[in-house]
Amino acid sequence: MIKVGASILSADLLHLQDELTDLEKAGVDFLHYDVMDGHFVPNLTFGPNLVKTVKQAWSRQIDVHLMVDNPQQVVPWFVEVKPFRISWHIEVKVNHQELCQKLKKEGIIPGIAINPPTDCEQLKPFIQYFDYVLIMSVNPGFGGQKFISSVLEKVAKIKKMKDLPLYIDGGINQSSAVLARQAGIENLISGSYLVKAGNRKKACQSLRGPLK
Ligand code: DX5
Ligand code: ZN
Repeated sequence: MIKVGASILSADLLHLQDELTDLEKAGVDFLHYDVMDGHFVPNLTFGPNLVKTVKQAWSRQIDVHLMVDNPQQVVPWFVEVKPFRISWHIEVKVNHQELCQKLKKEGIIPGIAINPPTDCEQLKPFIQYFDYVLIMSVNPGFGGQKFISSVLEKVAKIKKMKDLPLYIDGGINQSSAVLARQAGIENLISGSYLVKAGNRKKACQSLRGPLK
């Protein structure tokens, strides 16, 4: 079953409550919450406090994507506001095992994100600790970038290491979603295409593809 996530980065923050209500109505399965620290990526976004606010208008799953240099420090801040999933990047040096254990103890699902240029061999020693992989299909930092299709070559390699849910993030629209689905990815995250669509319900449905 294809699941669709909406990236909060593309939402109209001035009308966040209406935006979230509308995205739920459009059939979005989960909210993707992008955290950027200005070091790991050249942009700054949201901290943990806004998750509490979001929860007042969003009743479905929230998935926090940490694009930060120091998950060791940042993860506990987000554990407190209890999202459904939290991912951080394989490109940062951190004790993955310890952090995953911490999350699981709190009932939060840990995921590992991987940037387009990063060889997925780097996941090998650590993938055992994680419950999903977030394949980045743009270089993180900004919404609205073009989909990098070569990242789809990672799917088979990752599945061989561990059969776990795969998420794809960056440049997902109707046509890149077809490629991602064909490659075997079941969780599609979309910002600009979905959240800025005139008809979000239609956009969400187009990402899921034809009904089977
Ligand atoms: C990129 C973020 C993505 C982004 C997706 O740094 O991690 O989640 O918001 O937005 P689009 O779909 O516009 O690429
Ligand atoms: Zn993201």
